[in-house]
Amino acid sequence: MPPRPLKIGIIGVGAISQYHRDGYLAAGAEVVALADPHELTLRAKQRQWDVERAYVDFTEMFEAGDIDAISIAAPTSVHAPATLAAAAAGVHVLCEKPLSLDLGQGQAMIDACREAGVVLQVNHQLRSHGAAALAKDMIDRGVLGRITHVRLRQAHDWAGASEVRTSFATRESSGGGTLLDNGCHMMDLARYFGDDVEEVYARTATLKYAIELEDTAHVSVRFMSGALGTIETAWTGTGWEEGFWIYGSEGALEYTNRLGEPYLRHAYRRSPGTTWGDTDVSEHRFAGDRPHWRHIRAFLETIQGVREPICTGEDGLEAVRLVLAAYESAERNAPVRVAEAPATLTV
Ligand SMILES: NC(=O)c1ccc[n+]([C@@H]2O[C@H](COP(=O)([O-])OP(=O)(O)OC[C@H]3O[C@@H](n4cnc5c(N)ncnc54)[C@H](O)[C@@H]3O)[C@@H](O)[C@H]2O)c1
Repeated sequence: MPPRPLKIGIIGVGAISQYHRDGYLAAGAEVVALADPHELTLRAKQRQWDVERAYVDFTEMFEAGDIDAISIAAPTSVHAPATLAAAAAGVHVLCEKPLSLDLGQGQAMIDACREAGVVLQVNHQLRSHGAAALAKDMIDRGVLGRITHVRLRQAHDWAGASEVRTSFATRESSGGGTLLDNGCHMMDLARYFGDDVEEVYARTATLKYAIELEDTAHVSVRFMSGALGTIETAWTGTGWEEGFWIYGSEGALEYTNRLGEPYLRHAYRRSPGTTWGDTDVSEHRFAGDRPHWRHIRAFLETIQGVREPICTGEDGLEAVRLVLAAYESAERNAPVRVAEAPATLTV
């Protein structure tokens, strides 16, 4: 008999929640409950998605029970209390990024889920991007040889808006600017491709928007392996921009969404007589790729015990640790060892 569809609750029904809901449906799960204190938004989503139960307080959702797993798609300050409540109710958690803004709180989330025997997956969905997944597989199979440099970029311009979206525009509501928002995804990808990071050196600037937070940032990274990395994040791009470039002793991978249909280009040298400019090249295309949906499928398969977790609470915590180290570095204008990252956001 096929397993019954898992029953899902979604906490926070704002912008990103649509990806979660669609991903669960595509994976054959059932969204049975929603929670959001903004009652108008809550009722509108309940109608739009035809969901039976809706709560203005997520604790009532857990009290009512009959849920296998939740997505936390609410602001970052809600991630810890919602995760702790889920663990206490024996419910698996897919938590949006960043896991938390405080290392102690993040560790408490990890401990609570481990003690309760529930899965905690963090929504660094770029790990589930077709190009990133293939790149990771090629790195692990040694296709690129020894990794020497990892370059990552995520940038946008708030869809051309003249202002940053309100919930992202102040330190009080968001905790940080582009270095936190886009940077935690990039920090996670850096570890995914290049393994653990030893030291970061960051610069931040506010160059376009009238906000108290940085809208432009870059980070120089030294991995434990000795390889180097550069991370660029910005709200000062033009349009949506995502890319990674991974260089190894035996070849390079190049991915960007900026040149028409996204593809991953693998450059290598096996043919004799190739020039300085020309190399052997293979290309991989990813039409129809849906990272969020693949990430949600991985979450459900982890719950069902058919695969290893793709992005654990520990992975989410390390991404936060790297962001905290980067803010500290930008503040001090000096390199900061990751082991000396502050435990919470102080800038
Ligand atoms: N994975 C990604 O690429 C990605 C992209 C965008 C946002 N995010 C993350 O998702 C989270 C939400 O971002 P968003 O863009 O959807 O924000 P949003 O402001 O559009 O939506 C957040 C929703 O959470 C609700 N909320 C606030 N307090 C709550 C509580 N106590 N319980 C339940 N709901 C509550 C708000 O009313 C709102 O409807 C953030 O942590 C953000 O960093 C991740």
